[in-house]
Amino acid sequence: MLLMGGKMSTTVDPAHAAAFDSRADYVAAVEQIRAAARDYYSGSTLAMDDATYDALIARVAATEAASPEWTVAESPTETVGAGGGVVGDVPHTTPMLSLDNVFDADGLTKWAARLDRILGRPAAGYTVEPKIDGLAISARYADGDLTQVITRGDGRAGEDVTGQARRAVGLPHRLAEPVTLEIRGEVFMTEADFALANELRTGHGEPPFAHPRSAAAGTLRAVDRAYSAPLSFFAYAVHGLDPAAHLSHAGAMGYVASLGVATTAGSAAGMPMCATIAEVVAAISHLDAARLTLGFGVDGAVVKADAAADRDDAGSSSRAPRWGIAYKFPADTRTTTLLRIEVQVGRTGVITPVAVLEPVQISGVTVTSATLHNFDDLTRRNVRAGDTVFVRRAGDVIPEVTGAKLDERPESSEPFTPPTECPRCGGEIDRSQKRWRCTRGRACGAHESLAYYTARTSMDIEGLGDKIIDLLVRAGLVTDPADLYDLDVATLKPLDRMGDVSAGKLVASIQGSKAQPFSRVLTGLGLRMTGRSMSRRLARHFVTMDALLAATIEDLQTVEGVGPERAVTIAAELVELRPVIDKLAARGINMTEPVDPAAAAAAAGDDDTATAAAAPFRKPDGAPMTVVVTGSVPGLTRDEGNEAVERLGGKSSGSVSKRTDLVVVGDGAGSKAAKAEDLGVPIMPADRFADLLAAHTAGDTARVATLLEEALPTPA
Ligand code: IVH
Repeated sequence: MLLMGGKMSTTVDPAHAAAFDSRADYVAAVEQIRAAARDYYSGSTLAMDDATYDALIARVAATEAASPEWTVAESPTETVGAGGGVVGDVPHTTPMLSLDNVFDADGLTKWAARLDRILGRPAAGYTVEPKIDGLAISARYADGDLTQVITRGDGRAGEDVTGQARRAVGLPHRLAEPVTLEIRGEVFMTEADFALANELRTGHGEPPFAHPRSAAAGTLRAVDRAYSAPLSFFAYAVHGLDPAAHLSHAGAMGYVASLGVATTAGSAAGMPMCATIAEVVAAISHLDAARLTLGFGVDGAVVKADAAADRDDAGSSSRAPRWGIAYKFPADTRTTTLLRIEVQVGRTGVITPVAVLEPVQISGVTVTSATLHNFDDLTRRNVRAGDTVFVRRAGDVIPEVTGAKLDERPESSEPFTPPTECPRCGGEIDRSQKRWRCTRGRACGAHESLAYYTARTSMDIEGLGDKIIDLLVRAGLVTDPADLYDLDVATLKPLDRMGDVSAGKLVASIQGSKAQPFSRVLTGLGLRMTGRSMSRRLARHFVTMDALLAATIEDLQTVEGVGPERAVTIAAELVELRPVIDKLAARGINMTEPVDPAAAAAAAGDDDTATAAAAPFRKPDGAPMTVVVTGSVPGLTRDEGNEAVERLGGKSSGSVSKRTDLVVVGDGAGSKAAKAEDLGVPIMPADRFADLLAAHTAGDTARVATLLEEALPTPA
């Protein structure tokens, strides 16, 4: 039998949804919703992602508002459980209701105002707790013993799932006191248990679950399954307490916790008390920010009037209580098109399939690629290029493709053929483990990572070109950048035609690179999603490697240009590179960025003249000018030119637009110079730019000012 939870709900405000033009379209949508609702908890397949479901239900609601005469009986907008139709046979003592939804502070304020109107007085206070993304259940205790657990079903009657639910962590078999009551809450699977559940399932040759919620539902339904991952439980309500006690919601939850039951209030997310809606809004944004680090799925916040009197007086409609409201966060799973499957080889030789996606917004981030984990998984998930796939972004993890919509598969699609040799070095693949590896391991990618490390734009180690790197790697002398610093003349000499002198020079230039600034070390390490200018920005921001290593995902996001996805990648890369970083540090490589006193003065907000001299490419409001360098600047490489722009307080850019503040034009400049002229963007000749840089370095304030005045229009 299928389970029906009833937690389907809208994340699209019906007020903004488009009504259907015909009743036929409306009815078709209702049928789609019902089918999706039936599949919702059925296990490994997701019929529709939440956002699509929500959008559809919002359009149905909008249609019913516009043409009430079209409304079908038991419309999904009215029925708890969205009319999925499958109901258990155990009646609930009191109906298990749903919650109405809001999506922003405005909706919340309106809800609170309505509550105050109903009460005829301001509500005494609110609690804010996480909205757990799982399945609602009601747990009956008699004299302290857990006797029966029932799913919500249609809200009036549900299915008996006592057997499996007894395994849920947080739902004790015996309470601390011999009381008779009913505890309601959410059964769910933590992120870690979800990973375990899929290991177990795929190990038994079954397809993985697409989402922790389906995993929880599948596990709760599974009778007699020898293998299954743990379920968890958080209570959010209790029935059957003495009404005379007039317990507040927080008080009731405290009591439930004292009986030994896990509660949302006791979860990592907590349950702050708020006196005003402004405080509620702040608590919700705090929860939203922490959401990805909780280790379990939270799809919103639930705000409740705390006082017993407020709850009693507000009461409930047939669908939902008036004393509570769900504030929904954007969905963490969306669908998009899988454009192609690429194979990546990591630094340690691990070979992974990666999905290249049609860009899709998932909880505020644009996702363009996602992991497909490993080749076994890819085969089992039966995912192909061209498919419409489910993409999930949760926790501090890289986005993942969890499955494909098989009914939408293009006829022409072909199964993916896994590689037969290492795509990077052509070497053999070790398939003995789930994670395939190039048999050459770290040495497989050594050449590339060493070449990147020693390049002019990174550590700039002279004499260490491709050929020598190749010799060193082949001889097994070097597999990572830190090994370079262990080389001495005696080791180098036997290498292909290397004499005393050249070996000595090479050792000297390797050793000399130890003093390079931190930004160059960072560039050389080649963290994914960071190029040269991002490495410089990170180095300037954190100043030392230790500070960078200690940075949290949130800290990383305070750096300009670092969003959540990049922050997660940088953090993951630092973990992966940690052994090399430690090796470099042990060999005395400088990991501190010199603080430019001029820039520091500018940042400290000195007076105008000082600021102009300290950071000439900073606007009066302190924002960096956008500067494009095109053509050659005497004495500087292209990269050094860009570096100089940043040293002068500006932001270097590669293309000219209306928003460009200055274009530096040198020999060999092409279309960019012409475009700057067309757009009327100020131009500075490259030799003047070199002068400016020299004057700035020398601290010649007057000269800096003159050169700037020449190039830039004087403010009116
Ligand atoms: S209170 C009368 N609190 O969300 C209904 N519900 O969309 C009282 N849910 O049916 C529900 N976390 O399945 C409440 N902290 C929480 C919740 C929560 C998840 C679920 C629950 C509910 C659905 C409504």
